[in-house]
Amino acid sequence: MASSQQKKRILVTGGAGYIGSNTVLQLADAGYEVVVVDNLSYGRREAVDPRILRVFDLHDTEALVALFQAEPCDAVIHFAAFISVGESMKLPEIYFDNNVGASLSLFTAMLRTGVKHLVFSSTAAVYGLPESSPISEDLPYAPINPYGESKVMVEKILGWLDRAHGLRHVCLRYFNASGADPEGRAGEMHNPETHLIPLLFRAIQTGKPVDVFGDDYPTPDGTCVRDYIHVSDLAQAHILAVESLLGGAPSNKFNVGTGTGFSVLEVIRAVESVTGKQVPHRISPRRAGDPPALVADSNKLQSTLGWKPRLGELKDIVSTAWNFAQKHSK
Ligand code: UFG
Repeated sequence: MASSQQKKRILVTGGAGYIGSNTVLQLADAGYEVVVVDNLSYGRREAVDPRILRVFDLHDTEALVALFQAEPCDAVIHFAAFISVGESMKLPEIYFDNNVGASLSLFTAMLRTGVKHLVFSSTAAVYGLPESSPISEDLPYAPINPYGESKVMVEKILGWLDRAHGLRHVCLRYFNASGADPEGRAGEMHNPETHLIPLLFRAIQTGKPVDVFGDDYPTPDGTCVRDYIHVSDLAQAHILAVESLLGGAPSNKFNVGTGTGFSVLEVIRAVESVTGKQVPHRISPRRAGDPPALVADSNKLQSTLGWKPRLGELKDIVSTAWNFAQKHSK
């Protein structure tokens, strides 16, 4: 933990987004000074303390250089990105521009001002449709959509920038981020919403059935299996990753998941049990590009950085998310 005497300053890009805003809170709780850059294209202004929010686009290299000169940073946590797999299939060019082009602008500004530590938001989508489960980090890159490809590209760029310039980085490959801050300060509010748990709450609130995308997968109940990881545990992984880099650790890549998968129907049952309400749902055709099962082997993260999920139970994820959703529903 940073003491007040040697408070470290961390730049968080995309800090007004779901995972970013949760991580900003935990960084502050851990004694870090934080500055957020977000263009608010998807982030929510009210998710960040206005005193630390700088609103501009990461393509603006000069603005980043000016920021690093005015507020020197010890490290960067880079969340800002477009995240919708389906949209990336239709508009790959904006995914490469925003996720790769803007990242390159950020890295250029870091190199120009001597900021040499970065934690990067990567994804299970870099593995595509893996043959084996749980998934370990040594599986090859095999993205099946431009979103996943854009994250692979940035991981590769970072590898070269480390070799050429010593830009030390940790890539965290998230599985299914979910849940909300246990104190209710931040949670999931995407627009449009495509993620399962908020859509299940919406179905309860509106009475309109949610689509279960396919029940004929080779899984125990036929619905897709995912590794749901609590956003606070995910945030904690970022803090451990920053600490490792500031302590001199080399660049690395880690999966972040619990190692336990739940099917869509199991998540529906968990939501029904936590809320005490029925989730209206109907079985629908498969959604294109959905792998049957994605479960993380996160042993490397546990053994290297000492990370451990603290809210690893599905009921913890659902209950924190439900508290947040109730507070924020109209
Ligand atoms: N699902 C439904 N109905 C819905 C929404 C989702 O049945 O209305 C199912 C999906 O088919 C999937 C599961 O619920 O099996 C979870 O779906 P999400 O959309 O919540 O999340 P994904 O697993 O599709 O996506 C996550 C991340 C992406 C990442 C991807 C890697 O959100 O950023 O994992 O495959 F790219």
